[in-house]
Amino acid sequence: MQILPGFRDFLPEDCARRNYIFSRWREVACRYGFVEWEGPPLEPTALYKKKSGEEIIDQLFNFTDKGEREVALRPELTPTLARVIAAHEREFKKPLKWFSIGQFFRYEKQQRGRLREHFQLNCDIIGEPDLGADIELVALCIDVLRAFGLTEKDFVVRISDREFWTDFLREKNVPADRWDEFLQTIDKSGREPREMTARKLGNLADPVFATLKNGGKSEKLDKLVDGLRGRGLADFVSIDIGIVRGLAYYTGMVFEAFDRAGKFRAIAGGGRYDNLIAQLSDGAVSLAALGFAMGDVVLGELINEILRASEAMLKAIASARAIDVYVVIAKEERRADALRHIQQLRDGGYRVDYPLSPTKVGRQFQAAEDAGAALAILYGDEWPQVKVKNLTTREESLIDHRALLDSVTKFFNMPGSV
Ligand code: HAM
Repeated sequence: MQILPGFRDFLPEDCARRNYIFSRWREVACRYGFVEWEGPPLEPTALYKKKSGEEIIDQLFNFTDKGEREVALRPELTPTLARVIAAHEREFKKPLKWFSIGQFFRYEKQQRGRLREHFQLNCDIIGEPDLGADIELVALCIDVLRAFGLTEKDFVVRISDREFWTDFLREKNVPADRWDEFLQTIDKSGREPREMTARKLGNLADPVFATLKNGGKSEKLDKLVDGLRGRGLADFVSIDIGIVRGLAYYTGMVFEAFDRAGKFRAIAGGGRYDNLIAQLSDGAVSLAALGFAMGDVVLGELINEILRASEAMLKAIASARAIDVYVVIAKEERRADALRHIQQLRDGGYRVDYPLSPTKVGRQFQAAEDAGAALAILYGDEWPQVKVKNLTTREESLIDHRALLDSVTKFFNMPGSV
């Protein structure tokens, strides 16, 4: 039996890495006052056909369910968010700052950094048209990446504005129904041969290439960078009008985060989508909105690549998984006493492990080390005393078994004990 292409098994080590990423994501989103929410993994296919754009529709994992409904595994969260907001917006004061961590599915060609399932952190602000929200969102994206030990030497957030291009198209008298196609071409231009882009752009090729080369002037983007400079984050961003994003619903500021070395695909991407909620609710609810999503795949590759970040991850994983106490059963006659204490210690909130069957004492101490235990407690000939060994300092002491619980509690309450 083979795993499907583009899907992953998460062995314990992979789960530990994934949980590390999730915990940093959650921690920083909460630091910014975002609250967590979640949507369903399966949605009506029509939700994506309406506004996500051609690329996503081609990549849908869709089928007809047993009730003859056209359904799709979610390729992204934004349409679900727009649907949920349209249905529930009256229940909340604006602006809303919501985040979510979940799994997404896209029937993509499997390649480095792109799989058929991946996890995303989504952070969105709803009901705030002010540029202050754009600055806050980009700052959040930067701080999420900084939480992994990544610096301005490791990644850059490239910021752009779709309005810059829609103004350009208006000026060139390009009809509005061709704008989506044009934006898609600009989005792909960095990854496609120049001739192919030129062919798609036709008579706009020369002015577009000239604009891409010389960069554009945007007061909005200058203000955005100034806002980030005020927070000491300007070194993490650059204005790059070549960024337009592949998804159809963006209306204003857009951005993507990349590794500085240019080795990987985008780590995160997002922007303003001020019309999507109105479009999906057929005009019933209209709210300004902006957000971004960061995937776990490229981020994981970047962490592995940067020593500082991978060391921080391994340290956090070791401490998250370490147990407090390993109980060494040196004499099988003591197993029942040991298990009584193990139950009490676990009830007290300590992480406790022990051998499930008779095992050589040496192997038990090895297991204690492997599990990262702070203390080993040995049940053997010393009974009614037990031997408590501090596995960091190697100090040993004999303690009457009736005083054990107090003594363990005291040890873990001591500053710097673990
Ligand atoms: P997106 O750019 O399509 O945006 O995806 C965001 C991030 O998800 C990408 O930068 C990448 O890290 C990751 N990602 C996307 N597809 C894959 C894949 N096949 N394999 C691995 N990682 C992947 C969105 O999804 C928007 N809905 C973001 C957003 C939220 N805009 C506003 N709010």
